[in-house]
This record gives sequence, C-alpha cells and structure tokens, in this order.
Amino acid sequence: MPEPVDIEVRKAAARLANRAREQGQPSQWFEPLYQAADGDARCVPWADLAPHPLLQEPAPGGRAAVVGCGLGDDAEWVAARADSVWAFDVSATAIEWAKQRWPDARVQYEQADLFALPPERLGAFDWVVEVYTLQALPPESRAAASRAIASLLAPGGELWIITRIRPEDAEWGPVPWPLLRRELDALASMGLEFVKEEALTDTDLVRSHWRRPAK
Ligand SMILES: C[S@@+](CC[C@H](N)C(=O)[O-])C[C@H]1O[C@@H](n2cnc3c(N)ncnc32)[C@H](O)[C@@H]1O
Repeated sequence: MPEPVDIEVRKAAARLANRAREQGQPSQWFEPLYQAADGDARCVPWADLAPHPLLQEPAPGGRAAVVGCGLGDDAEWVAARADSVWAFDVSATAIEWAKQRWPDARVQYEQADLFALPPERLGAFDWVVEVYTLQALPPESRAAASRAIASLLAPGGELWIITRIRPEDAEWGPVPWPLLRRELDALASMGLEFVKEEALTDTDLVRSHWRRPAK
C-alpha cells in the first residue's frame, strides 16, 4: 500500500495549481513541484510508485503512448503489454527521474507538451493511456487537452482515461479536480466512440475506454 500523502504536500500542490491557473498557464506548476521534491516521491502527491489499480488486462497492445507519465510506473506496466511505448511529460525533471528509476526501460521517456505535440506523434498510436492528467488541469483547459490526447490515436486505436468523476453539483475543491461526466462524453464530439467503462469499487474512480473508428 502506498503511504498516505501528507496534508502539507497536498496544500503546497493546491497553491501551485491555483497560481498557475490564475496566470492562464495550467501546466506550469508541475515542473516546480517535481523540482522541489528533489527526488523524494513523498513530496509528489500522485506518486504511488506502483501502476494504477485500474490498469488491468486485457490490454490492446501495439504502439502505445502514455500521457503525463510522471515517474513512469504506469508506462512500465503498459510496456509489458505493448510493442513500443512513448511516455511523455511536460516536466523535464519528471522525465529525468523516470529514466533514473527505469534505466533498462523499453519505454521511450521524453519531455513533451500535450498542448504542442510533435507532429510525427499525431495519429501514431494504437493505445493511448492517460492517468490523472486531465483532472490536474482546470476545466477551461480540458477540451483542448482532451482533443490533443485524442489526436494521438491512429484509426482503430483505443484510449484509456483513468480519472475521478464528480457529480455536476459537487463543490469545487482544491486540485485534483475530478471530471464531470459531460467532460468525458465530449470525446464523442472529437471523433471518438465510447467503448466501455470500468469502475473501482467503492470509489469515484473510472477507466473510460474510447476508440477512433477504423477508416
Ligand atoms: C496528476 S499528475 C499524474 C502523473 C501520472 N500520470 C500518475 O498518475 O502518477 C499529472 C501529470 O501530467 C503532467 N502534465 C501536466 N500538463 C501536461 C502537459 N501539458 N503535457 C504533458 N504532461 C503534462 C504533469 O507534469 C504530471 O506529471
């Protein structure tokens, strides 16, 4: 079991996230957070140092991408079930940290920004995995982020989004900001088809599957 995250760590993350949001730079707070952690994963609120429990077989395989990969545990799980994996994160420090943790990795870890994806990555993946990145971005950024994630899929490719879901009338609290159901459903207007959803019992966590129709 991962250790519970210290309340002060969460508060510091919330302050950084709010400031970045106010400045209209929603992804800007991650690099300072990883830098301040200085190699101590207990200072990274989402770093469980284990694959997410909703990463479960069967997996689509093929050419995979992991969005906002952080310290790499999910990317390594994907790598065991894929032909190749490109795992990217906006934070250069997170990417260096992941490379140190997984020196023999089959995963290609790379610093890249979801909002400025390298053109050669567009439409290049059979399987795209996103864990907790959308819910760490404010609502005004989510449509653009979702569209960018969807743009990675090749025809016939499958997207897994792992996120918390909140009811429409839930109060807006500190980050993470669980998704509204309609924010997930918006993927249908971005050219994707809903496939299925798995939930983690007694939690608000889901793994939502979407597919880009084959041509
Ligand atoms: C809440 S963390 C989750 C990290 C990892 N997926 C996990 O579950 O442990 C969100 C991650 O998304 C990354 N991220 C945020 N904005 C991004 C962007 N524009 N492009 C790529 N990665 C981004 C952050 O640096 C961070 O590592």
